Amino acid sequence: MATRVPREDLRGGTGRGGLAPGEQPGVRGHPEQSGWDLTTLRRREREPWFDPAGLLLVEDDDGLAGSCWTKLHPPGDVGEIYVIAVDPDRQGLGLGRALTLSGLASLAERGATTGMLFVDGANTAALRLYDSLGFALARLDRAYVGEVRP
Ligand SMILES: CC(C)(COP(=O)(O)OP(=O)(O)OC[C@H]1O[C@@H](n2cnc3c(N)ncnc32)[C@H](O)[C@@H]1OP(=O)(O)O)[C@@H](O)C(=O)NCCC(=O)NCCS
Repeated sequence: MATRVPREDLRGGTGRGGLAPGEQPGVRGHPEQSGWDLTTLRRREREPWFDPAGLLLVEDDDGLAGSCWTKLHPPGDVGEIYVIAVDPDRQGLGLGRALTLSGLASLAERGATTGMLFVDGANTAALRLYDSLGFALARLDRAYVGEVRP
């Protein structure tokens, strides 16, 4: 279950309407989400916090174009852009911005007064998008890796 967002209803604009329930465009190269498959998606949909109103999907004539999955954190004043992705063939056309704004609007409609998200520090496109929308850095996490030998 998800919410179809007609193109004309996207905030800020250029999305092109429709969707296929339960589908999510590939988050190619994303460190945590690129391995998601339908089983992963179905499992997330069974989480107690799942709300179909918070999973926005947009399609165009060629199929699913992008999605924005949002999540309200208890008690409900903080809302997260949980997973957002635009099909690689449709990136750079304004759809990511429109989907982010629509996701935030959806969170606000459901009671959130603060929007938040996590983003990889190497994800230049996403960082620029969120910066341009006025998001401020709240926390910086570092992950370290090193070779180990027996
Ligand atoms: C991040 C993502 C959703 C942006 O979607 P998009 O439709 O390409 O973005 P838009 O066309 O709306 O661009 C919005 C802003 O993002 C930034 N941006 C987009 N692509 C960029 C790129 N390749 N390099 C640098 N900045 C970029 C720009 O600031 C742009 O604003 P501008 O056009 O006024 O300069 C998309 O790149 C994506 O799906 N990435 C893979 C999944 C992912 O990383 N999701 C975010 C996880 S937190």
